[in-house]
Amino acid sequence: MRRRQFLSAVPAALMAADNSERIVRNVVFGSCLDTHEHPMLDTTLKLERDLFVFMGDNVYADKGGIPMMKEKYALLKNSRFFRGLQNKPILATWDDHDFGLNDGGADYPHKREAQKEFWDWLDEPTNSPKRKQEGVYQSVSFGPKGSRLQVLLLDTRYFRSSLKKVTKDKAMLGGVYVPTEDPNATMLGATQWQWLESVLKEPADLRLIISSIQFSPEAHGGECWANMPHEQKRLLDLLKGSQAVVLSGDRHWCEFSHNGIYDFTSSSMTQKHPRGTPTANRFRCFPKTYHLPNVGHLNIDWAAKTLTSRIIGEDGTTKLEQTLPFSALEVMPKGA
Ligand SMILES: [Fe+2]
Repeated sequence: MRRRQFLSAVPAALMAADNSERIVRNVVFGSCLDTHEHPMLDTTLKLERDLFVFMGDNVYADKGGIPMMKEKYALLKNSRFFRGLQNKPILATWDDHDFGLNDGGADYPHKREAQKEFWDWLDEPTNSPKRKQEGVYQSVSFGPKGSRLQVLLLDTRYFRSSLKKVTKDKAMLGGVYVPTEDPNATMLGATQWQWLESVLKEPADLRLIISSIQFSPEAHGGECWANMPHEQKRLLDLLKGSQAVVLSGDRHWCEFSHNGIYDFTSSSMTQKHPRGTPTANRFRCFPKTYHLPNVGHLNIDWAAKTLTSRIIGEDGTTKLEQTLPFSALEVMPKGA
């Protein structure tokens, strides 16, 4: 009992503390955990880390309603992996399987209950404003001026309009979704856009945009920002001039892309991609992809002003790696 109290108290205390002196140099980011006992998870705990980011599909709980979701979160919370993460800050957003509906969006009827389970998992205090807010988006900044990192966790589910689909015979390799021209279709919803505009006014030397679904790749039939080109453009316009990158998950394989902004996709921590081959992506900026269990690792060298992004496999070795100067991370609006 004592141990449990200790474990649940630490992350909330860490996140409530003033983070302005906490310099983040190593960020570990992962997605799509369909089990909480896996060699990849043990490897992850050995990586150098100042912060861990869950990018969605943190549990798979879209088939048994809220009782099943509670059960899955309890398993994760009591796992060796989650306990092992407790000594450093943890941030999270969700994707469809922990939102509660495969490919789900704004019309999912149990989203409020799912949000309560999400915050319960993370021990968010009962009086926290995040529990009153609709959607799990949030921004957290770390470090003093000169090494200030802003982490913006987006909610790509709670407000998302339904997606435009084609029939299976017309589908692309990644699925049945296609880009819409409907200007009213939204990825983030008006309230979250307004919030994003305001938090982007806060100064930061580097911004990490956490999006459960991919931002930069071309449309591939699966869920991605390219299915709403006007929303994609809106985010790039908002970020123009900032030094920022996107971290994304969802796909069950990894790739690095650049389309106005770098997007480092790491997925899945515990599952092998059954097809083993990527979808087409003219914005892929690193020649290799990786399709076995993995986690992402960012190393920020604040003195040299460089960012190294890596995909790490189950054996702890690097599978994809790219080092970029901060100057290359300046976001360019689409078409520029
Ligand atoms: Fe997934």
